Amino acid sequence: MDLAQLTRDLEALRTETAAAVGAAADIAALDALELDVLGKKGRLTSVLRGIGGLPAEDRPRVGSTANDVRRAIEGAIAERRAVLAERVLAGRLEAEAVDVTTPGRPLRRGSLHPIPETIATIAEVFGQFGFVTYEGPEIEDDLTNFQMLNIPPDHPARDLWDTLYVDVPGKLLRTHTSPGQIHVMRSTSPPIRALLPGRCFRFENVAADRNFEFYQVEGLMVDEGTTMADLRGLLDQFAHAVFGHDKRTRFRPGYYPFTEPSVAFDVECLVCGGVGCPACKRMGWMTILGAGMVHPVVLQYGGLDPERYQGFAFGMGVERIANLRHGVPDLRLYLENDLRFLEQFP
Ligand code: PHE
Repeated sequence: MDLAQLTRDLEALRTETAAAVGAAADIAALDALELDVLGKKGRLTSVLRGIGGLPAEDRPRVGSTANDVRRAIEGAIAERRAVLAERVLAGRLEAEAVDVTTPGRPLRRGSLHPIPETIATIAEVFGQFGFVTYEGPEIEDDLTNFQMLNIPPDHPARDLWDTLYVDVPGKLLRTHTSPGQIHVMRSTSPPIRALLPGRCFRFENVAADRNFEFYQVEGLMVDEGTTMADLRGLLDQFAHAVFGHDKRTRFRPGYYPFTEPSVAFDVECLVCGGVGCPACKRMGWMTILGAGMVHPVVLQYGGLDPERYQGFAFGMGVERIANLRHGVPDLRLYLENDLRFLEQFP
């Protein structure tokens, strides 16, 4: 081994490696090449092993050439690595690019079911008069649903409410929201202005105008000196807010065991304006709720002194009101969860 030969070998390694670096197609190939040439057991090391056989005065020159070669190879590899990394990045940028001009996926917007939407509208109107919303239980007992509302067991008035019982003695599904009156009177004190929306149940022959499950909103006001005129004025305001300010309203005598006197509250037919048409069965009027002055016995059951306090109560069928507001002909639609129906209430 002589100096000239070793120098040639080094130069050959430099040239050969430079070509291989240029040809390395990706970073993995470059890494492999780097290990093969510059690694501990690589080709540069094995060429340099020849140094041991040179005369001592030649060794520094070979050492300096070897350093040049090593630096040149390291430089070439670093440069190539940068080029390849750039290429990888460019490829990813292209492949993973977000096309901001692609049309988006439309979000399906939900909307309130017409029943809770109607309840919210009712609560908003009465809320302006200071009525606060409460909720009573759907499973009631006979005492609260009937007896404390002045409907004794076996009283014929019970025929007004075809009742669904649960298989716990004394328990039933509330047939109206009126038992909520008792709960409110017993848990708060006058002045009371309460609104009680909720689901009610009756043993009904299901038809377009009746269902076994339906919603009511109960109203209760109790204070000193509350009169029927307060009831009338408030219901007028309500009817005007919900059905239109030009609509006529009227009280008709009615009967409920828990109010005395009792009334039905009518609004002129929204379709014919009072003339009479099939929508109002030729009556010209639509009954939207039952109401009356809270019976003294009921005030007593509510823990209040009827000599001091008076009150009125009303109960309206939410489906009825929703039908009138939206022109829905059949209240069974509200429970069917058919999107073709529900999507019409945006
Ligand atoms: N609870 C009665 C019903 O279900 C409605 C009503 C409520 C009437 C309050 C008068 C007072 O028909």
